[in-house]
Amino acid sequence: MSLQRLLGSELPLIQAPMAGSQDHRLAAAVCEAGGLGSIPCAMLAPAALRQELVAMRGLTERPFNLNFFSHVPPAPDTTRDAAWREALAPYYTELGADPASIASGPGRLPFNDEAAELVEEFRPAVVSFHFGLPDEALLQRVRRSGAKILSSATTLDEALWLQERGVDAVIAQGLEAGGHRGHFLEHDLSRQLGTFALLPQLVDALSLPVIAAGGISDARGVAAAIALGAAGVQVGSAYLLCPEANTSPLHRAALQSPAARHTALTNLFSGRPARGIVNRLMRELGPLSTHAPEFPLATAAIAPLRAAAEARGSGDFSPLWAGQNVASCRPMPATELTLELARGFP
Ligand SMILES: Cc1cc2nc3c(=O)[nH]c(=O)nc-3n(C[C@H](O)[C@H](O)[C@H](O)COP(=O)(O)O)c2cc1C
Repeated sequence: MSLQRLLGSELPLIQAPMAGSQDHRLAAAVCEAGGLGSIPCAMLAPAALRQELVAMRGLTERPFNLNFFSHVPPAPDTTRDAAWREALAPYYTELGADPASIASGPGRLPFNDEAAELVEEFRPAVVSFHFGLPDEALLQRVRRSGAKILSSATTLDEALWLQERGVDAVIAQGLEAGGHRGHFLEHDLSRQLGTFALLPQLVDALSLPVIAAGGISDARGVAAAIALGAAGVQVGSAYLLCPEANTSPLHRAALQSPAARHTALTNLFSGRPARGIVNRLMRELGPLSTHAPEFPLATAAIAPLRAAAEARGSGDFSPLWAGQNVASCRPMPATELTLELARGFP
């Protein structure tokens, strides 16, 4: 069966879910243009997620994807947290930021019972996960809702693990990808592969459709992924510049500046490696640090610095998530970008 038939969309093209940078507006625009729009749920409490779903239904009747994180929240480690705040202390002083002044926000929540209830109620056509899969009981509830299930794999072992657990398609997330790496079995970053090394390995070994993600930002990239056996593509960073995305003005400016040519994996902003434009904090403390608390606990201590710096118009302490190919992206409406990407399909 073709990927578009499986997903229910016209095109085998998924707009990557991007927590913190977009909501139903971008997702609905992509759905209306023939792709599969995604609503990222990792930073939404249940009430906010319900609002998103109602708003989405108000904008489109087309199938869409709901995306969740499926990490296991770590136990708080007060010693590590204190050491991390200590490392950040000079920045608090410099920016006049009070470490206790800013709540860390909703953080990142893993898929849970309340989210499963919303899936059962709203019945999205597709549910995708990042960082593996939730436990079998929760996964069964998603399956019984009728949703097709996707998850990201960054190695062959992860892809085989996902296939064994009955997902409907696997997203091959190459190292070029913006945002968080989806790895969940192997945390050694030297084992992470670029999209065009990972993709054929998965295509050859799996009996499922493989969706290419990472570094695809135009029709040429789509065509290349299809030539390597991808059943479809998932595109993230290129959509960050669409007017329908919630990308902040600071983030948009960085994406369109020469700085966007230099991205790196960093764990400073959340505790897990994610690809973003190299900024001052990454240069001075990282980009990777063994002191950063476990995902998602590192976020809290950075929040006051980020707020203080952003108030002065600086992205020195902000996560400027971006893939390696974003420097060639231009602002354009989501419909236009979707149609441009679609030209890459045979
Ligand atoms: C700003 C941003 C936020 C992201 N957030 C999520 C997320 O919430 N869930 C998820 O599964 N993937 C997330 N990703 C990763 C994408 O699913 C995808 O792997 C990536 O965007 C593909 O590479 P590209 O950015 O080069 O297109 C995010 C990516 C970006 C750029």
